[in-house]
Amino acid sequence: MSAMTHDHAVTVIATYMQLMRDPDCASSNFYKRMFELDSSLQSLFSADMEDQKQKFFQLLTTIVRSLDNMDRAKPMLQHLAERHQGYGVQADYFKVGGEALLYAVQACLGPAFTADVEIAWREAYKQMYQIIVATYQEMK
Ligand code: HEM
Repeated sequence: MSAMTHDHAVTVIATYMQLMRDPDCASSNFYKRMFELDSSLQSLFSADMEDQKQKFFQLLTTIVRSLDNMDRAKPMLQHLAERHQGYGVQADYFKVGGEALLYAVQACLGPAFTADVEIAWREAYKQMYQIIVATYQEMK
């Protein structure tokens, strides 16, 4: 598995604290960007989007907080993958999700989104994505 250093985890957690001041910014931008990148994904969602945004941000908070300990994050990501397969979400859609998340982080952090911050978030998402894809493969 690729290396996410402790420094990366610390950077992601620290910038996430900033995002938490305005959770709606991150979650709104995430869905906005995801549907811009692939409008067909919109039809998978039947739930109230305000409710969905809150659930998304809550779970993301729990995942991000455990990023410096992948043994703790892994089972959460495996369950996330299992549930999403049930929603008809293909593993590949998590690539779009990654781009949307990076966009949202950038949009909400503004000038605090430095090159180092971007690298740390990309590495963190890569780590999450690998666990999600591996779980999808095991479910086949
Ligand atoms: C960072 C990655 C993601 C996180 C943390 C996340 C989180 C969540 C959460 C917390 C829920 C509520 C239900 C549950 O907990 O199972 C949910 C539902 C859902 N998510 Fe995600 N999600 C992510 C990525 C994606 C992506 C890339 C897609 C692609 C389309 C997606 C599609 C859906 C759908 C279709 C539902 C069900 C909505 C409904 O019931 O109408 N998610 N997600």
